[in-house]
Amino acid sequence: MPNRPKVFISRTIPAEPLARIEAECEVTMWPHDTPPSVAELHAAVANVDGLMSMLTERIDAALLDAAPNLKVISQFAVGIDNINVAAATARQLPVGNTPGVLTEATADQAFALLLAAARRLVEGVEYVRNDDWQTWYPLQLLGSTVSGATLGIIGLGRIGHAMAQRAKGFGMRILYHGGSNQDFAADVGAEQVSLDTLLSESDFVSLHCPLTPQTKHIINAAALSRMKPSAILINTARGGVVDSAALLHALQTHQIRYAALDVTDPEPIAADHPLVHLPNCIVVPHLGSATWQTRTAMGMLAADNLLAGLRGERLPNCVNPEVYG
Ligand code: DGY
Repeated sequence: MPNRPKVFISRTIPAEPLARIEAECEVTMWPHDTPPSVAELHAAVANVDGLMSMLTERIDAALLDAAPNLKVISQFAVGIDNINVAAATARQLPVGNTPGVLTEATADQAFALLLAAARRLVEGVEYVRNDDWQTWYPLQLLGSTVSGATLGIIGLGRIGHAMAQRAKGFGMRILYHGGSNQDFAADVGAEQVSLDTLLSESDFVSLHCPLTPQTKHIINAAALSRMKPSAILINTARGGVVDSAALLHALQTHQIRYAALDVTDPEPIAADHPLVHLPNCIVVPHLGSATWQTRTAMGMLAADNLLAGLRGERLPNCVNPEVYG
């Protein structure tokens, strides 16, 4: 069919959203699981009308200059810290993302990490694999009680709220800092506190804020020093919210008890990075939204954003609505 818009999708996406896009567009999809290099990405967008990007790509002014026909950027993620949104807005380019559809999956992952760290599940698996399980004894691999403990949520947005709902089911007391949705707070009986209070009173601190200049390294050496020595840190937000060097020191010196990280800085983190080998740290490879259902739903929403932008319609989820005047 003539005049079908050209789109570049920077990684293989699930079949259902791909079919929806292919029904209307001429699609080029990056065939590898690793991202295109900057040069490859610039070449790929040179003639396209639409771009579906992943969180691994840097979408900056140079990229936008390399794509003179671009009408829309549709991010296959809710987080958009890899995109220079101001540069897109300056070019009247709408940017879409995928909020909502990954809320529950990401909260599941955060709570799974909380439980795994609290009950030392990964250490337990290693213990059996290493043939260390010789007997039962009262002080064997003791962890932390979850029920009745205090959970501090940094960023009570959609995912923070879903995390709090899970915590409520475990009878936890919930504190939060950041996020101003009073309905979320009331729903879970969460108490708004200062960052200092949250850090010093929480048994578990879970990060759910976006990465912005304000939240970069919000968990730094000073913050870690305010946490309880028994505290457990969970990060399913973005690696850059935590100062990795400070966290490494805090875990090595038992300033805090444990960390469970779905996201890291740098990301991916190298297998020989010391955080990966600490007995009191769990690192998994950014799997918060990694279920078949959720990734398909993210793809459908990203497809809707992409197609709306190509048709000149308002994106269903637009992060820079000021492009519509
Ligand atoms: C996001 O959407 O921002 C997650 O990090 C990946 O699903």
